[in-house]
Amino acid sequence: MGSLTEKLIQLPDSTEDQCKQDEDFVDPWTVTCSSQSGPDYDKLIARFGSARVTDDLLKRFEAALPAGAKLHRFLRRGIFFSHRDIEPILNKIEKGEKFFLYTGRGPSSASLHVGHLIPFIFTKWLQDTFDVPLVIQLTDDEKYLWRGLKLDNIKRHSRENIKDIIACGFDVEKTFIFTDTDYISKSQAFYENILKIQRLVTFNQVKGIFGFGDSDCIGKIAFPAIQAAPSFSTSFPQIFGTSSKCQLCLIPCAIDQDPYFRMTRDVAPKLKYPKPSLLHSTFLPALGGAMTKMSASDSNNSIFLTDSANEIKNKINKYAFSGGGGTIEEHREKGGNCDVDVSYQYLRYFLDDDDRLEQIHRDYSSGQMLTGEIKKEIITVLQDLVIKHRQARKEITDEIVDRFMTPRSLNFTLNTTK
Ligand code: TRP
Repeated sequence: MGSLTEKLIQLPDSTEDQCKQDEDFVDPWTVTCSSQSGPDYDKLIARFGSARVTDDLLKRFEAALPAGAKLHRFLRRGIFFSHRDIEPILNKIEKGEKFFLYTGRGPSSASLHVGHLIPFIFTKWLQDTFDVPLVIQLTDDEKYLWRGLKLDNIKRHSRENIKDIIACGFDVEKTFIFTDTDYISKSQAFYENILKIQRLVTFNQVKGIFGFGDSDCIGKIAFPAIQAAPSFSTSFPQIFGTSSKCQLCLIPCAIDQDPYFRMTRDVAPKLKYPKPSLLHSTFLPALGGAMTKMSASDSNNSIFLTDSANEIKNKINKYAFSGGGGTIEEHREKGGNCDVDVSYQYLRYFLDDDDRLEQIHRDYSSGQMLTGEIKKEIITVLQDLVIKHRQARKEITDEIVDRFMTPRSLNFTLNTTK
């Protein structure tokens, strides 16, 4: 082996090893765990070899914000809980210099659920707060290889998904959105970076990282290079110019995407590119509880952006796992358990008001607030989120989608002192 540094060698990470070690399982395609309160994220940090977003780091982050800005609730509440090399990004911010953002989505279905919005809500906040360019990758190729869907269908999903992404409020002057099949056909620079990465990673290495086996198709084996390449700004000469100097990249993503970027960070120095930095989020629990994440293929376990206000209400009332007592008497006496209560957990993600959240925590834990009442709180918050999203999405025409997807220069100034 030899080359996969970053603690990867010592840390059992293959599919088999994960199962042996404990019952949480996390890779880019599957998340399951044995506890109703969700995966043990500290163990994940240890196993993946990333670092916790500490209070000290948050203080530094906060101090670096533009005047009047407040840390996003996803940072305040430990939802983006883990990172790799966030310090070089903070150094840049503190010096008033720029970096770029990269995130993405696998277009496996036409409609998104609220969990899919998390990286995009956060990325938009980063873009607005630090005024930086952003690239968004839609891995239609990945979903073709993994899901057995027709390419035409996936392409349709991609366009629908892009509308949902744009509806999160990204600035067209600062954002390039692409599907892999489209951009590969247009950009020599992107394909050349993919090739360079492919030459540097062996089958053995991707087997170790992703658990590929001998009967996986060769497309899967080569794919990780395609998700890696946008981490390097030289994949986008129309945005960053044709110099071989690479800009620093920050990737906000759910922690299940980390294997791709461990591989990316390992090859970066060999290409004389900077390693991308990462901020990892936890998973939004499924309605039935945090043993699994919300999934597009399980409609009773997910709130979709296309759900009506009534559907949201019914799903929460019927399916949201409750941490409340078995009877009203028991609940009044012992109180509810916010750690496992799905309504409370969703409020952590989507209710911005810290004081209100704290009060709900107090009242529900003491038994003063009943399960039906906490459900009512989250129903209102989610209905509001979904309705606003749909209003924004209605405004996104095909022409707007095309503008975001056109390879072009973006409006920003990179401070390139080095
Ligand atoms: N593989 C991701 C998914 O299935 C999509 C993706 C591509 C991505 N590039 C990314 C996610 C960068 C986060 C960051 O959803």
